[in-house]
Amino acid sequence: MGILDKVIANSVPYMPKPFVQRISRRYAAGNEASDAVRVARDLSRQGCLTTVGVLGEFAPTEQYTRERLGDYKQVVDAMEDLRDPDLDYHVTVKLTDLGLTLDEDLCRKNLEEILLYAKARGRCLEVDMEETPYVTATLDMALKMHERHGDTGAVVQAYLRRTLGDLGRLVEAGIPVRLVKGVYVEPMELAYQDYDVVRQNYVLLLEELLRGGVNTRIATHDEYLVWHALRLIHQLGLDKDRYEFQMIMGVQERLRKILVEAGHPVRVTVLFGKDSYEYSLRRLKENPKIAGYVTRDVL
Ligand code: FDA
Repeated sequence: MGILDKVIANSVPYMPKPFVQRISRRYAAGNEASDAVRVARDLSRQGCLTTVGVLGEFAPTEQYTRERLGDYKQVVDAMEDLRDPDLDYHVTVKLTDLGLTLDEDLCRKNLEEILLYAKARGRCLEVDMEETPYVTATLDMALKMHERHGDTGAVVQAYLRRTLGDLGRLVEAGIPVRLVKGVYVEPMELAYQDYDVVRQNYVLLLEELLRGGVNTRIATHDEYLVWHALRLIHQLGLDKDRYEFQMIMGVQERLRKILVEAGHPVRVTVLFGKDSYEYSLRRLKENPKIAGYVTRDVL
């Protein structure tokens, strides 16, 4: 992590609000479900698949989680109202936003409600992965939903030392898996700290997933990892229904276009929500590397 990134991260609390708002506009579609729908339709016209989600984490009350369910249903309804047969979208959720830290049963019920709502409309749910205290509960819940209803995907983080050990039961369950590097700052005991080790572990996990027959969502903007993914797809002779690339809106758009034009499935995450300013601020303060990327990008 560069010194410049740290300097930028430390100055985030002092950055003018309009500047942080500009950053959040770059990475979030807007405040309303209709903003996400507009961006998703645009991306669909560019040949991309999409994933929609609501910005937020750590629900403070049960009432908050009920409102959140409403937000999810609203965006699904708005996407369906387009009646666009080419619009292929998933829904993504964070379990702490659905009440994981309040009450696991409440969170499970909320997750199931959103899953069934999406599934009834032929859509799949993806369960984001958060900080290490929530990894076990998140994987357990995603697997339980997949076992009960199907149409659920899990996420694993390549920077975690435990992830290789977690793959066994995911592969056995046949659950689709999104592979990411991991965005939170975690201690060395739990997570690899070296950039190259994380990359090498990503490649190792990717190979295990693809060879294990798992529907794999290759979520990265790192051209080195994209190249390894393309190499494995080629060497293993994988069909397009076995994998997809995933990226976040506003990031590495040139690489995204190259993959789309080469005929690979590429899904773009589109987030919206009223909390976009607070959410961006937290993300930037938390992770100096992201603060560095986005600030350089916006400048
Ligand atoms: P890396 O960080 O090396 O970035 C490669 C290049 O991409 C950089 O050099 C930079 O140019 C550009 N870049 C990357 N991120 C950028 C940004 N935010 N702004 C501007 N430029 C950027 N994490 C997690 O812990 N749980 C999760 O559930 C998810 N979900 C998820 C979904 C999707 C679709 C993606 C793409 C990513 C996630 N992540 C995530 C985040 C992930 O863990 C990781 O932090 C980021 O993808 C950045 O890592 P890269 O693999 O892109 O490599």
